[in-house]
Amino acid sequence: MSSPTKTIVVTGATGKQGGALIDALLAAPGGANFHVVAVTRSSAGPRAQALATRPNVSVVAGDIDDPEAIFAQIAASGKGPVWGLYIVQVNSDAEEAQGRALVDAATAHGVRHVVYSSSDRGGPVKSAGNPTRVKNFAAKFHIEKYLEAVAAGSAEATKMTYTILRPVTFFDNLTNDVHGRGFARMWEQMGDRKLQMVSTRDIGWFAAQAFLRPEVYTNVALSLVGDELTQAEADLAFRQAVGAPMPLAPCPVASAVKFFLKGTVGDMFRWFEEEGYGGDVAECRRLHPQMQDFKSWISANKGQWAQQ
Ligand SMILES: NC(=O)c1ccc[n+]([C@@H]2O[C@H](COP(=O)([O-])OP(=O)(O)OC[C@H]3O[C@@H](n4cnc5c(N)ncnc54)[C@H](OP(=O)(O)O)[C@@H]3O)[C@@H](O)[C@H]2O)c1
Repeated sequence: MSSPTKTIVVTGATGKQGGALIDALLAAPGGANFHVVAVTRSSAGPRAQALATRPNVSVVAGDIDDPEAIFAQIAASGKGPVWGLYIVQVNSDAEEAQGRALVDAATAHGVRHVVYSSSDRGGPVKSAGNPTRVKNFAAKFHIEKYLEAVAAGSAEATKMTYTILRPVTFFDNLTNDVHGRGFARMWEQMGDRKLQMVSTRDIGWFAAQAFLRPEVYTNVALSLVGDELTQAEADLAFRQAVGAPMPLAPCPVASAVKFFLKGTVGDMFRWFEEEGYGGDVAECRRLHPQMQDFKSWISANKGQWAQQ
């Protein structure tokens, strides 16, 4: 087997999207050309330890509040130069500053391709001009604009390119715990309004393709969606797969979460109802025919409800 020729740094590597990218990249034809540097705040954690055992993966401990320190460690370990950077962040007040700092560090260290995991804000055309009033969507809008401007202004000899991925709501929010039941109830409270959804497995597939096939994915933004359905429609598929109804948190709990977290969860669900995502399921499936719809996702993930 040939040695990897390109190093990519993956933030959020122990999380859903970053983890899915690493799985998809390592499994893909051409994946062996990449060495993955997986970023985590705790290299002693079980997920980081599991990553460290995988071929062509090394783990670096770092905080994306300080991307320079992450790049300095990579240079000192001899794993550089860094060719690609995958950016995914958790929602926080620091999100925009972290995103800008990651883009700045990419520029300073000659990174050639940045894949940024953002969020859809009404489809390909609308998202480009619509920060929305949902705080974490707006942070992503501003990071996208910064990335596009920095890439456009980068020197010809070391041109930086980018791919912006704009996933809709994750199927993976549906977990067999209090969070998953709360999510399911808030979805149910949307009534007849359909919600666009996608699996994080498929987000990882697109992120891997963005590194593997720059001729297709350079300087584009893609809304990622695998299905569009009401909670009642999803409940039918859930019953068929699991043999029981989708568990829902009590109504007052879900309403209280939306009320008390109105700057985040509340605004987001209001936005789902008033505006909503605008991804194109058929287009995503054209690019990735194995894209999961809810039925195939629940069939592959029903195990966690097996003990109900
Ligand atoms: N859920 C949805 O429906 C949905 C839909 C569209 C977009 N999104 C967006 O998806 C993003 C979250 O992605 P995800 O679900 O893949 O995340 P996740 O599973 O929660 O994982 C995030 C990872 O980031 C790492 N991390 C957190 N803070 C860090 C820091 N300061 N420095 C370094 N690493 C840090 C953590 O790793 P360690 O603990 O190992 O450090 C964690 O494993 C959010 O921005 C959200 O807005 C979510």
